[in-house]
Amino acid sequence: MDLGLGGKVVLITGGSKGIGLACGMEFAREGARVALCARGAEGLRAAADAIAGETGHEPFVVTGDMMRWEDARRCVDAAAAHYAGLDVLVNCAGASPGGLLENLTEDDWKLSLGLKFMGYVRCCKAAIPHLRRRGGGRIVNVIGNDGVKPAYWELTASAANAADLALTAALAEQYGPEGILVNAVNPGPVDTARWEGLVRAYARDKGLSREEASARAIRSIPLGRICTPQEVASVVVFIASPRASFMNGASITLDGAQRKALMDL
Ligand SMILES: NC(=O)c1ccc[n+]([C@@H]2O[C@H](COP(=O)([O-])OP(=O)(O)OC[C@H]3O[C@@H](n4cnc5c(N)ncnc54)[C@H](OP(=O)(O)O)[C@@H]3O)[C@@H](O)[C@H]2O)c1
Repeated sequence: MDLGLGGKVVLITGGSKGIGLACGMEFAREGARVALCARGAEGLRAAADAIAGETGHEPFVVTGDMMRWEDARRCVDAAAAHYAGLDVLVNCAGASPGGLLENLTEDDWKLSLGLKFMGYVRCCKAAIPHLRRRGGGRIVNVIGNDGVKPAYWELTASAANAADLALTAALAEQYGPEGILVNAVNPGPVDTARWEGLVRAYARDKGLSREEASARAIRSIPLGRICTPQEVASVVVFIASPRASFMNGASITLDGAQRKALMDL
C-alpha cells in the first residue's frame, strides 16, 4: 500500500533513539523528508547515518531541549526552513521518572510534566503555523498507556500522559476544521533504553530483582512480549499519512492488550 508520504516533511522530536529513531527510519522508507531533533548532537548524527545508510535519505538534524520554549520553536522553524515547509510533527521526546509519591522530587515532576507534557505543547504551538501555511497537516503524539491505566509506581508518566491525551483531543477539535489532524499512539512497554530504566525503577519500588520485574511486565501482556520500536513506528506512519484522512482526536492503544488484561503488575 502506498501511504502517500513521498516528499512530505516530517519532524520527529526525540528522533535520535528508540521509538523516535524507528519512526525516522520508517518515514524515510516511505519516501518522506525527515528532520530529527534531540539534545545530543552525537546521537542525532548516528541516527541520521543509520537512516541514510539504509534508505539513502540524509535526514536534517537539529539539537534542542524541548524543556525550553525557545529551543522547541527554533527546532521546528529550522526543520521547516530547511525543507521549505512542514507537513507532520511527531512528538516523541519524553522521559518520566518512575518512583513512588514519597520518593519523587520536585525535579522529577518538573522533568516529566515539563518535557512529556509541556514539550509536546511547545512543539504543537510552534508547528501549527507551519502546518496551517501548508493548508493542513498531521500531529502524532507518542504518549503511553499509563495515561489511561495510571500506576502508582509510574505516577509522573501517568499524569503527563493523561494530560497529553487531553491535549490531543482538544487540539483535534480546534484544528480539525483547518485540516490539521491530531492523534495519539499509546504504547505499553516498548523495547528501548527508556524501558530498561523503568524496569529497574519498578524492581526497586517492588523489592524485586530486575529479572523478576521484567518477567512480570512480560507476563502482563497477553502477547507474551513487549512491543518493538518498529511496531510503534508502523502505526505512527500510517496515522501521519493521507491514508488516515478521517482519523482525528483518536488515541490508538498499542499495548498487546496489557491494559485489558491488567494483572499482577
Ligand atoms: N519505551 C517505552 O516503554 C515507552 C512506552 C510508552 C510510551 N513511551 C514514550 O515514547 C517516547 C519515546 O520513548 P523511548 O523509549 O523511545 O525513549 P528513549 O529511547 O529514551 O529516547 C528518547 C529520545 O528523546 C530525546 N530526548 C530526551 N530528553 C529530551 C529533551 N529534553 N529534549 C529533546 N529531546 C530529548 C533523546 O535524545 P537526547 O537524550 O540526546 O536528548 C532520545 O532521542 C517517550 O515520550 C516515552 O514516554 C515509551
